[in-house]
Amino acid sequence: MSLCFSAALLASFAYALPTKVKRADFSDFSPDGKYFPLKDGFPNPNNDQILTIQKQAAGTLPNGPPPATLSPEGIINLQLIALNELFEVAFFSELVYNVSNKLPGYDLGYGHEYVMDTLHSIVAQEELHALNANGALKLFQQTPIEPCRYSFPVTDFQSAISLAGTFTDVVLGTLQDVNQIFAKNGDFGLVRAISSVIGNEAEQEGFYRLVQNKRAAAQPFLTTAGRDFAFTAIQGFTVSGSCPNIDIIKLKTFKPLNVLSKDIKAQTQNIKFSFAKADAANDELKSLSLVWINGQNKPITTSLINPMVDGDTVKFEASLPYDEFLMNGLTISAVVKGSGPFASIDDVAKATILGPGLIEID
Ligand SMILES: *[C@@H]1O[C@H](CO)[C@@H](O)[C@H](O)[C@H]1NC(C)=O
Repeated sequence: MSLCFSAALLASFAYALPTKVKRADFSDFSPDGKYFPLKDGFPNPNNDQILTIQKQAAGTLPNGPPPATLSPEGIINLQLIALNELFEVAFFSELVYNVSNKLPGYDLGYGHEYVMDTLHSIVAQEELHALNANGALKLFQQTPIEPCRYSFPVTDFQSAISLAGTFTDVVLGTLQDVNQIFAKNGDFGLVRAISSVIGNEAEQEGFYRLVQNKRAAAQPFLTTAGRDFAFTAIQGFTVSGSCPNIDIIKLKTFKPLNVLSKDIKAQTQNIKFSFAKADAANDELKSLSLVWINGQNKPITTSLINPMVDGDTVKFEASLPYDEFLMNGLTISAVVKGSGPFASIDDVAKATILGPGLIEID
């Protein structure tokens, strides 16, 4: 199908009006937030099942030899990738279920076939990413990461795709960090394969953007992210206490930072935030700053405007300097101790108390 045709097709989805159906009617896909094992055997498919997954993914697992060594930091990289890919498989499997069963809010009408075909391949590709990361951990005598129970804050196709676009952007930033850490620790033998996954996830991102009527590529240099930010963001989708062995991943979990502003436009403006009062001591408020991370630019530090305690919640605003930095695509925000300046996102992560607040512009 020609590009123009597919773009027009996707832009002209007809959404069926939701009919009144109780949630309970559809809870058989993920009873109690439990998604695994899938019908194809994932996360522990046998050899025949792997062949089927590879067909659906339109490609195979890498079949070259693993590198001779893996650093301790490299192990954390693979653990984080496995944790993330397991979550993605859960999400996209449920999205496929919702769309194929035309649940209320998921009836695409025209365009159904193309979307189903793409989503099916995405599920299988994410499965292979997870199997590859956990497989490498096993080769190096490390415990593979086990899936959690999950809960996703979406109930229609458009919000599901918008969420997929956001967390895929976080992955696209985090794999930059993963590659840098592999390189720094002598694990250069894994950089090429991870770079190939960055490309795959970016192709997916182009699809999510097309479906949202956004131009295909967001910005010339994609926003960087750090492992601790991704680790915290993933846990926003897990049922608390349900991850069997997340404790072995030696990364930081920050306290939540909520972005209250909605439909943020491409212009300089104040953004509204909130967080739980208990997550930052009273006397700390004056010493806190808000940091913006976008593209490959140095972190931008700004002050909290009008911080106000409202019951158990602290609310404040911060100025987003869109006009100066053209902050398209993903922006990561974090509340940090002190006022910087921070040379890189690594320094921001060290000072972060609350975050990441995720913002998408365009
Ligand atoms: C699938 O639909 C159910 C029922 O509306 C919803 O709770 C769940 O979040 C949806 N999942 C995805 C990934 O869209």
